[in-house]
Amino acid sequence: MKILVTGGLGFIGSHTVVELQNEGFEVVIIDNLSNSSEDVLKGIVKITGKEPLFEKLDLREKTAVQNFFKKHSDIAGVIHFAASKAVGESVENPLLYYENNISALVYLLQELQQKTEASFIFSSSCTVYGQAEKMPITEDAPVQVAMSPYGNTKQIGEEIITDTAKVTNISAILLRYFNPVGAHETTEIGELPLGVPQNLVPFITQTGIGLRKELSVFGNDYPTADGTAIRDYIHVVDLAKAHVIALQRLLNKKNLHKVETFNLGTGKGSSVLEVITSFEKVSEKKIPYQFMPRREGDITEAYANTDKANTVLGWKAQLTLDDAMESAWKWEQKVRS
Ligand code: UD1
Repeated sequence: MKILVTGGLGFIGSHTVVELQNEGFEVVIIDNLSNSSEDVLKGIVKITGKEPLFEKLDLREKTAVQNFFKKHSDIAGVIHFAASKAVGESVENPLLYYENNISALVYLLQELQQKTEASFIFSSSCTVYGQAEKMPITEDAPVQVAMSPYGNTKQIGEEIITDTAKVTNISAILLRYFNPVGAHETTEIGELPLGVPQNLVPFITQTGIGLRKELSVFGNDYPTADGTAIRDYIHVVDLAKAHVIALQRLLNKKNLHKVETFNLGTGKGSSVLEVITSFEKVSEKKIPYQFMPRREGDITEAYANTDKANTVLGWKAQLTLDDAMESAWKWEQKVRS
């Protein structure tokens, strides 16, 4: 069965392609290489022994999207990762985000709605909850006014899919990720941030390898046990496996509604200092850090209630924060060697 993975050469996309191929799916990747490289294909081949089809294509080009679906008329499902995801950049350049994350989604759905049936998995984010009132966060926690154009594209994306599924043969699962980290245990694929990393874990591993002098810990005055902010760090391989399970759910018509939403997290919150400690333990390296003021737009805490993912989807994170930090560190060492 042929599955389209957009953004399939990116961080989460590449790990998902590996899991799909391991489950026997035939994969076609669309990627415009804006934040990835064709070399990722080699890593996927090394792990799985299979080369996925790859089309370098920009989903903002409507005619190219139409032509792609003419060529690959046998696509049974789509996992849509391709999107921009830097919060700060989205504030500076909102239209880039609306074009990249919204137009592309619309063009994909326009093609899928012409099929007799289609399964669609969407990369959403726990950012839609803003600072939720209650921890852990359940899927029915209210969606809050977005704090950035990036966050808004995830909310609008969810709405577009929901409206479309109501009147078409498209069934969809919206996956709200908490904080994806780590790398494949083989070190053949992992996260490759361009320039100075904005996210915590790549900044830590780059500091560990000596590429950055010191980590800034944004805020030590949060109302948490150690004063630093709390997130739910989920191993990217666990996350990738959830996509395959979600896709199979739709393909096997096990879904209870046209659109279903699941939180993907571990259910465990970790503070910034706990992440540093975990890294120091697995790498036996000290991370120099300094407390800095809070980063604008950051929330105090976010961790998932995973009951619905566990019981309805039938997926549970297996790997720990230490596993994730160890794999991220092995990956960093390999990339710099
Ligand atoms: C961020 C985005 C989120 C997006 C996700 C995608 C913001 C506010 N949120 O999540 O919408 O879906 O990335 O990858 O940008 N930290 C430091 N020092 C650093 C970097 C981070 O202390 O150098 C802290 C942050 O303040 C935060 C935690 O580490 O408390 C995690 O930060 P990060 O990895 O950037 O993820 P989020 O902000 O949770």
